[in-house]
Amino acid sequence: MSEVQAKLVLGDCREVLKTLKDDSIDLIFTSPPYADSRANTYGGIKPDEYVEWFLPTTKELLRVLKPTGTFVLNIKEKVVNGERHTYVIELILEMRRQGWLWTEEFIWHKKNSYPGKWPNRFRDSWERLLQFNKAHKFHMYQEEVMVPMGDWAERRLKNLSETDKVRDPSKVGSGFGKRIANWIGREKAYPTNVLYLATETKNRNHSAVFPEDLPEWFIRLFTKPGDWVLDPFMGSGTTNRVAQKMGRNSIGIEILPEYFEVAQKDVKPAKQLPATQLALMEKKGKYAATKSK
Ligand SMILES: C[S@@+](CC[C@H](N)C(=O)[O-])C[C@H]1O[C@@H](n2cnc3c(N)ncnc32)[C@H](O)[C@@H]1O
Repeated sequence: MSEVQAKLVLGDCREVLKTLKDDSIDLIFTSPPYADSRANTYGGIKPDEYVEWFLPTTKELLRVLKPTGTFVLNIKEKVVNGERHTYVIELILEMRRQGWLWTEEFIWHKKNSYPGKWPNRFRDSWERLLQFNKAHKFHMYQEEVMVPMGDWAERRLKNLSETDKVRDPSKVGSGFGKRIANWIGREKAYPTNVLYLATETKNRNHSAVFPEDLPEWFIRLFTKPGDWVLDPFMGSGTTNRVAQKMGRNSIGIEILPEYFEVAQKDVKPAKQLPATQLALMEKKGKYAATKSK
């Protein structure tokens, strides 16, 4: 048996984060309150003031994250006066000035977004997952999130061009190249940076719950069992619940007592996980080359 810890704290993350140790967290995964949009539930922050409001928190997050760790921020700018507000873009620039590296942007494509009609745009079907790091070298367990090759392999690999058979140097001078032929006979490929997931439909007494698959994918990619995961805007505790199931220790901070109580119901302060379960979770999802037909 191995013990997995979860520390859930009721309070304002801007204060609570100050009590956490430097360089102690492996993954920060969170969805902060959206500017203005949920004013009726937990007091919105005005879009024009969003960056100023958020920066003291990201400063603390930078301090508590391990140099090998990753911060994934789920966010989407809202529409103000008929155009997209720029606070997310401004936030990225300010966070870079604070010392963060903006490593990557993933897209969460929400497969079941509500139908609707707007005069000047279509329904919004995606959100950003911004990946920030403290250092260029960080832990990333890419084999854990590999996907089946699918019929892409059948179609693309049947008709290989001459460039496909040799290493094709990057046209943008990034120094990276690809040799498509390397993938013949493989069953699995690395995924793209677009995640196709449904939105959460289960009612968890919270208006902005994300699906469990979302934190699960990033926890798998950036942590190992026994690592520490932090969600400073915990809400109903989705990140912590998933982290616990996956054998990761976690910290969650929530300012509103009603959401804190929801989280507390199914995240236990210490949970015994059978060693067999942990062993399964630790098993490398390494792909093996199979013989081509
Ligand atoms: C978008 S929701 C998170 C939902 C969560 N991902 C889930 O699956 O339930 C943001 C949460 O942050 C909380 N919050 C807002 N300001 C906060 C603060 N300063 N400190 C801690 N929590 C805060 C809100 O009450 C809300 O529950």
